[in-house]
Amino acid sequence: MEVLKNKKTLQDFIERQKEMGKRIGFAPTMGALHNGHLSLYEEAKKENDLVISSIFVNPTQFNNPEDLEKYPRDVNRDILILKNSGLVDAVYIPEVADIYPEKAVSQHYDFDGLENEMEGKSRPGHFDGVGTVVEELFRQVKPDNAYFGEKDFQQLAIIKKMVEKKHLPIKIVGVSIYRADNGLALSSRNQRLHEDRKEVSKIIYQTLLKVNDWFRTVTVPEIKERVADVFDQQQGMQLEYFLIADEETLKETDFFYKDRNYRAFIVVMVDGVRLIDNMHLE
Ligand code: PAJ
Repeated sequence: MEVLKNKKTLQDFIERQKEMGKRIGFAPTMGALHNGHLSLYEEAKKENDLVISSIFVNPTQFNNPEDLEKYPRDVNRDILILKNSGLVDAVYIPEVADIYPEKAVSQHYDFDGLENEMEGKSRPGHFDGVGTVVEELFRQVKPDNAYFGEKDFQQLAIIKKMVEKKHLPIKIVGVSIYRADNGLALSSRNQRLHEDRKEVSKIIYQTLLKVNDWFRTVTVPEIKERVADVFDQQQGMQLEYFLIADEETLKETDFFYKDRNYRAFIVVMVDGVRLIDNMHLE
């Protein structure tokens, strides 16, 4: 596996691969890699000649400096995980100046309103930061296919919208959420949770399963009340939001229309760690 530590080495590498006509699959990350990340590369390996990863903790997508500071970083461990997986041909680990040659600031994007829902409300400026870094990485890596987890469903929708609006010749592929055996969605932030807290956090997934059972038979306000009750009874857990939204517009709904697809979204704080999850409802 090639470890590409700056823009120049990446560009040389990409040029060689393009000359050989290789189809490139790419999945960007912020490191602290786990099996959820690896599931993206597994998907990418199926449909490409070459799989590229990137590790870059993007400063412009953190609206809280403390969160940026606390973000887990261990590049050597990450490189080892990627090597051992046997799924990845090259990893790009840029410096801030490779992505932001002038100043680390975001561009402003119009994602047709997707950016104003859910995480957009809780984390102002976050999706401008994500759009900026992903667009720049796409321009440097030049992938044919790019892979994003449904774990961050709103991010996936926004990247699809960006590619469509900017006419980038890249297919965006969504990959289903990879969960621990107890159902907890894998996340780099889970590293900050004690084992016993990880165990109780399975209630998030269990609640989403119940919501799926109630879907189209119980009213939305009643579902919301039941979910709020579950978390009121959990010590050390605070429900930040729970809502059901249209999968395409990401707008919250109070009523289920017949021909639309819906997804439940939840954010819970557990011991100061922000856990996010979602589930397609059927
Ligand atoms: P990061 O949180 O490192 O996630 C990188 C990719 O892995 C994202 O597409 C995310 O949705 C996916 N992922 C994380 N946990 C997953 C899980 N349990 N199952 C499936 N996929 C999972 O998301 C980011 O980084 C950044 O915002 C980034 C896109 C790299 C831009 O900086």
